[in-house]
Amino acid sequence: MHHFNYVDGRLHCEGVPLEDIAREVGTPTYVYSTATLERHYKVLSEAFDGSKYLIAYSVKACGNIGVVSTLAKLGAGADVVSGGELAKALHAGIPAEKIVFSGVGKTRAELTAALEAGIHQFNVESFPEMERLNEIAMSLGKKAPIAFRVNPHVDAGGHANISTGGAEHKFGIAWHEAGEMYAQAAAMEGINPVGVDVHIGSQIMDVEPMRIAFEKVVTLVRELREQGINIQRMDLGGGLGIPYSPKDNPDSPAKYAQMIREVKQGIDVQLILEPGRMIAGNAGVMLANVEYVKERDGRTFVILDSGMNDLARPALYDATHEINLLNEPAADASLKPVDIVGPVCETTDRFEEARPMPPLKQDDKIAFMSAGAYGAVLSSQYNARPLAAEVIVNGDSYSVVRPRPSYEDIIALENQPSWIE
Ligand code: LLP
Repeated sequence: MHHFNYVDGRLHCEGVPLEDIAREVGTPTYVYSTATLERHYKVLSEAFDGSKYLIAYSVKACGNIGVVSTLAKLGAGADVVSGGELAKALHAGIPAEKIVFSGVGKTRAELTAALEAGIHQFNVESFPEMERLNEIAMSLGKKAPIAFRVNPHVDAGGHANISTGGAEHKFGIAWHEAGEMYAQAAAMEGINPVGVDVHIGSQIMDVEPMRIAFEKVVTLVRELREQGINIQRMDLGGGLGIPYSPKDNPDSPAKYAQMIREVKQGIDVQLILEPGRMIAGNAGVMLANVEYVKERDGRTFVILDSGMNDLARPALYDATHEINLLNEPAADASLKPVDIVGPVCETTDRFEEARPMPPLKQDDKIAFMSAGAYGAVLSSQYNARPLAAEVIVNGDSYSVVRPRPSYEDIIALENQPSWIE
C-alpha cells in the first residue's frame, strides 16, 4: 500500500501533484511519501505487538536524513553498515542504543565511533573483526555487545546478486564454528556476546526459507545457553520482499511475524529486525523527463533525463519498475512497445526493453514507481551528472531534503594538483 495515486488525471504523492514537484524542483527527482513510510513502519510494528522487539530500519535502503528522521520520530532504530550511516542515523535522531552495526569490513575508525556512541549491538562477521573490536573496546574501557552473524547455508531464492546466505558468500561466520567462536568471545574482556544474527538475502517473497534459517538460529540460541552463554537477542536481518508490479505477491508482514512467533516459541529473547525495502521501497518514486523519442531500425527509444547513475537497479539486478505518466493517459490509449533508456554512455543504461507504453512525447514526465529503496542511495555522479534531488511529501506540503548539486558544487569537490598553475 502506498500514497501515490491519480487524482483528476494527475499523479499525486499524498496531496501534492507530482507535476508541481517536477516543475519546481526539476528532474530527475526522488519523491518520498511520509504517510507511506509511517504506514509501513506501523504495519510491521503492529505485527510484532506483544513481543520484545526493535525495528532497526536498514539505512542502506534509503539513507536520506528526511526519511531517517521521519522513522526516528516513530521510534525506529537503525541498522547501519558504515561510519557514514552511523553518523547520519545519529544526526537524524536515532538514539545510539537503538543502533546495530552490520557489515563484513568495519574499519578501526568505524568500530571506535560506534563504541564511543554506545550502540546497541555489533553484528560481527569474523574472528579478526572480533579481535579488533575487543582491542579497541579494552582501550576505551568498554565492553562491546555483539552478535555473530551466522551463515545458515539457506538459499532464499531471488536474484543471485542479493542472496547472502550460502557458503560461497562472504557474509557471516560458519555455522559449525559458532559454538567455539562464542566461547572465545565470552572469554574476551572487551566483548559481551548477547545475540545471534542472521540475514539471508533481500526481496524474499516467501517466508519459508527464512523459517528454515530462523529455526537454525533458535537451535543455536538454545545450545549457546546450555553452553552457559547468556544470549538475549535474536537479530533476524531484513529481506521481506515488496510488490514491484501488480503480479508480485510477497508474503505479508503479518505472515512474516506469525512465522517468527511460531519459530521462537518458548524462548525469551529480544527480536531485532532490519527491514529496509519493506519500509522504504514503495514509499518513493523517481521522476524523469522525456527528452527525445527516437525511432530507429523499427524500434522506438524513449530517452530520459535520468539514467543508470540515478536509478541503478535495472542495470545491476535486471530489475524492472512500473512506470506511470504524471498525466494519466486515456483509458483506451493504445500501448506500443518502447525501449526506455537514459542518457549515459553505456549500453546497460536501459531501464526496460520493449515495454508497452501509452504514447509518449518530448517533455512528458514519468514516475518510476517503487524506487524508494536502493534508489537514490545507489546513485552516482557518473558522466558528471548531478545527483538527483530528493523531496519528501507530508500531506499537502513537500520539502526538498537533498537539493540537486550545481555544476559549481560538483567542481568544488575537486582540485587541480598544486603543480598546475
Ligand atoms: N540487514 C542486512 C545485514 C542487509 O545486508 C540488508 C540488505 C538488510 C538488512 C535490508 O534488507 P531489505 O529488508 O532491504 O531486503 N541493492 C539491492 C538490495 C541489496 C540488499 C543489501 N542488504 C536491490 O536493489 O535489490
